[in-house]
Formats: sequence, structure tokens, C-alpha cells
Amino acid sequence: MQPFFFLLLLFTSSFIPTQSQSQPQPQNQAFISLLITQNGLNFVKNILTQKAISSIVSLQLPNIEKGTRIPMLGSVYFVLSNITIYEIDVDSSNVKPGENGIEILASGVSCNMSLDWSYEYSSIWFGPVKVSDQGSAQVQVEGMKVELKLGLENQEGYLDLKLKDCDSSVKDISIKLDGGASWLYQGILDAFEGNIGSAVENAITKKLGEGITRLDSYLKSLPKEVPVDDHSSLNVTFVNNVLLSDSSIGFETNGLFIKRNDSLPIPNLWHKNSKLPILCTNSSKMLAISLDEAVFNSASSLYYDAKFMHWIVDKIPDQSLLNTAGWRFIIPQLYRKYPNHEMNLNISLSSPPVVEISDQKAGVEIFADLTIDVLEEDKVIPVACISLMIQASGLVKINGNNLVGTIRLGDFGMSLKWSNIGNLRMFLIQPVMWTIIETVFLPYANAHLSKGLPLPIIHGFTLQDAEIILSSSRVAVCSDVSFAESNKHFLQSH
Ligand SMILES: *[C@@H]1O[C@H](CO)[C@@H](O)[C@H](O)[C@H]1NC(C)=O
Ligand SMILES: *[C@@H]1O[C@H](CO)[C@@H](O)[C@H](O)[C@H]1NC(C)=O
Ligand SMILES: *[C@@H]1O[C@H](CO)[C@@H](O)[C@H](O)[C@H]1NC(C)=O
Ligand SMILES: *[C@@H]1O[C@H](CO)[C@@H](O)[C@H](O)[C@H]1NC(C)=O
Ligand SMILES: *[C@@H]1O[C@H](CO)[C@@H](O)[C@H](O)[C@H]1NC(C)=O
Ligand SMILES: *[C@@H]1O[C@H](CO)[C@@H](O)[C@H](O)[C@H]1NC(C)=O
Repeated sequence: MQPFFFLLLLFTSSFIPTQSQSQPQPQNQAFISLLITQNGLNFVKNILTQKAISSIVSLQLPNIEKGTRIPMLGSVYFVLSNITIYEIDVDSSNVKPGENGIEILASGVSCNMSLDWSYEYSSIWFGPVKVSDQGSAQVQVEGMKVELKLGLENQEGYLDLKLKDCDSSVKDISIKLDGGASWLYQGILDAFEGNIGSAVENAITKKLGEGITRLDSYLKSLPKEVPVDDHSSLNVTFVNNVLLSDSSIGFETNGLFIKRNDSLPIPNLWHKNSKLPILCTNSSKMLAISLDEAVFNSASSLYYDAKFMHWIVDKIPDQSLLNTAGWRFIIPQLYRKYPNHEMNLNISLSSPPVVEISDQKAGVEIFADLTIDVLEEDKVIPVACISLMIQASGLVKINGNNLVGTIRLGDFGMSLKWSNIGNLRMFLIQPVMWTIIETVFLPYANAHLSKGLPLPIIHGFTLQDAEIILSSSRVAVCSDVSFAESNKHFLQSH
């Protein structure tokens, strides 16, 4: 039943520069989906069982009072108070997703309780005198079964978790008295077995009901947007129905980048079907998260629109390239016109980079204009502009709960866009451009990519032994998770 869902994530926004302008964005497109496998559900179930146990230990049950008429004695009034469950043990538990919801069954549940008892009666023989006694007792409940049926649905973008049914049944109770004239009262107390049994059943059912309600509010409090940085967030609004099969639970989220302060309309997207199932090569992993390439393209588009893809470069490893003297033999006319002038390079992407994911491969295509500026006193004089087409291949990795990447130069092409200094000999300029891309552009891009994209993993859970699988237009992360008992918000006992 739970925490995993938390794992949601991501971003939204935009992409695909020209082709898509006129298509309306379908409502229910999902670009990030998440699958929790049976192993993942078992893991979550165990955490929840621990939480449930600790919320039940020290639980006090309401007093049980009972008056009876006993022949010869008259009316006897018994009170059981301070009924406390101090230990509970669960022998085995199972979680089973299915079309109609999620079933959790715990069997062989036993608990030890302590209680105080007391009674009084007025004797018809001895007149109105009240006789009374008191003591304590140990109660052991065995072979209890607890069964929960949960419904999980997408309700307008939020997960809605409902307790559809909760049933518990006690098989065996034994009561052992200490104190008082124990032997005398044992039989009477035994008559309370039924009452104690239903008190335990009611208390556990109520406690679990409260736990599910808390879990439900926790799920509803999960943000629909996960901030990525100052400028962008991932839209993790749930879309479509929760996909319940007999061995997994699947969720789909919008998953695209959105501007942090969503004032920009979301550009249209190509219609794409990105459907579960997610393919992991190792089916024993606890969960799988799948990201469509549109997620990365929405990020690319968002940063592009926010004008983050324009740089004035005035420092480079080979600083001689920022003086016309350094270009003397490459563009002689530049040196002649502006001898020994400082320069800078104005690199400006001409469209958002396009990310493409195919079998085993992630790649990005970047179109940029590089303007050569000469600095004269306080003037910046653009002298020529070269269009670059850069093809880079990417390596995708997991760092903590972030998906991070690095890119390497694959291929590049260039052409002269315009020039105020006559024709340029491009074959001489090419090696210089290559150096600038390798030493300035790629390191800059990689510094950003190394920060990565936060995967929608609930606080307290950490990906472990993650494996990344690239397939046609998708990245899948198949992973186990570990849980650190530090998540204070999650299903507290009180
Ligand atoms: C209730 O029971 C506990 C454990 O048996 C005992 O420590 C405590 O004093 C009892 N409380 C009262 C009010 O009798
Ligand atoms: C609970 O009851 C069982 C059965 O009597 C016993 O073995 C176990 O030690 C008890 N636990 C505690 C903490 O008393
Ligand atoms: C987030 O995704 C939902 C579902 O696709 C969509 O209705 C909503 O408009 C998106 N939010 C933003 C800010 O784009
Ligand atoms: C969000 O937009 C509003 C209105 O345009 C503006 O006042 C506010 O400062 C913005 N917040 C952020 C974090 O940019
Ligand atoms: C599959 O994943 C499980 C759990 O992470 C791991 O124990 C097992 O070694 C993996 N098997 C293969 C073939 O990688
Ligand atoms: C950099 O070049 C772009 C065109 O490639 C131009 O629009 C922009 O104004 C230039 N920026 C500066 C600061 O010169």
C-alpha cells in the first residue's frame, strides 16, 4: 500500500520546436511512469507493518464492564480496566494488488496484554455489605487474522487511498490471573474472553483505519510539482487511472518540466503513446521509473525560452584565442583590420537542443550561432557569425536519487552565417571551433547535467543498485530502494 507512490516525479513543459505548434495537447499524456513490482510492494508492506505494530504497542483498550447475577450471590459487577497491548507479533503477511484494489492479509498475529480487574457485589445473604476484590491478569491472544482491502485511485491528479474493508478475527485467548483469590475468579474472567476478543479486534481495526487515513492525507499532500531548480519544476500531477495488475501497481504522471512560476503557457507536444509496461531486464527490482524523451525536451525548451542558452565567453583555457593576434593566420583580414584587439565569443543556441533516445543510446543535437565580437574601447563590434551543428552522445547515470548525465562530442558541422570581414576559410577555422566546443561548451553543459534531474522518490527512500535501460524514446530506471527511518512525515503513530 504505500510509500512508493511517493516516488513520483517530474517535469513538464515543452518542446519540439516547430513541428507541433498546431496540435492540441491531449489531457492525459504521461511522460513519466512508475511501476512498483511485487518485490517493491512487499518492501513497502513490511515498512507499513512495522509502523502499524509500533502504533498498536502501548495501545490502551476501553474498559470492559459487566454485571451478572450469580445464583446464591446476587448481582456481581466486574470491571476490566487498564487493558494494554504491550507486545504484538505478526507471523506472516502478504500484499496482493488486483483489479479491485490492494489486499493486505496478516495472519498468525498474536498479542500480549495486561489488565487490571476488580469486582464488587452486594450479597442477598449478608445484606447490603459490598464485598470486593481486585488483581491483575495477563492475556494472550493468538492466531489472529487481519485483512485490509484498499482502493487506490487517481482523483483529479491526486492519489486517493481508501479503506474499503478491514476485518480482524481472534482465534484463541487465554487469561492468566495474578493476585486476589485468583482461582476463584478464573472462571468468571474466562467468560470475558469474547468481550476481550472483540475489544482487541475493534481496537486494531480502528487503529489501522486511522493509519490508512493518515496515509491517504500524506499521499494527498504530495506536491504536484517537484522543484528542480530556481527556474523549473517537474509536473508530477497523476494522469490516467492507477494501473493495478496482479503483480504490480503502475502510476502515470504528466512528467514534463514547467516553469517554476507557471506563467508561460505549455507548448504543444507531439502526440505520443508512452504506455506501461516498463521493461526491466531484471524483474526482481522493486520499482521501475520510465521517462519519455519529451521530459528532457521539455526541460530543454523551458531553459531555452527562459534565455538560459546564451553565453558571452570572455575566458577560455586558450586565452590567445580571445585576441585577434591569435587568429592572425586563420583570419588574416581580421588581424589586419583590428590588430591586437581583445575579442569575445557570443554563443547563442538557435533552437532548444533536441534529445533523442533510442536503443542503447542517448543523444542530443544542438544548433548554435557563434558570433565573433571584437572589443574596441567600450564598443563591441560583431564581425562574423558561424552556425554550428553539434551532435553529442550522452551517458545517463544515477547519482543518489537524481538522474544525471554527461555528453561527449560526436560530430559537428559548421557554416558561415554572415561576415563583415569578407570570406573566411572554414577549413582553417574548423579545428579552432572544435577546441572551443571541447574546452568551453561541453564542460559548461556537463557541469549543468551533473546536477541532474531529481527522480520522484519520496523523502526517506533511496535508490539502490539502479540499472538504466535505454529503449526507443524512453529511459527506464529499474531499481531497488532502501528506507531510512527518518521520514517523520510518513505514517506517524500519533
Ligand atoms: C496499568 O498497567 C500498567 C502495566 O501493567 C501499570 O504499570 C500501570 O500502573 C497501570 N495503570 C493504572 C492506572 O493502574
Ligand atoms: C507473550 O506471551 C507468550 C506466550 O505466553 C510468551 O512466550 C512471551 O514471552 C510473552 N511476551 C512477553 C513480552 O511477555
Ligand atoms: C500539470 O499536468 C496536468 C496533467 O497533465 C495538467 O493538467 C496541468 O495543466 C499541468 N500543470 C502545468 C502548470 O502545466
Ligand atoms: C511568480 O509570479 C508572480 C506574479 O508574476 C511574482 O510576483 C512572483 O514574484 C513570482 N515568483 C517567483 C518565485 O518567481
Ligand atoms: C536482479 O536484482 C536483484 C535485486 O536487486 C539482485 O539480487 C540480482 O542479483 C539481480 N540479478 C541480475 C541477474 O542482475
Ligand atoms: C549574441 O548573439 C545573438 C545572435 O546570435 C544576438 O541576438 C545577441 O544580441 C548577442 N548578444 C550580445 C550581448 O551581443
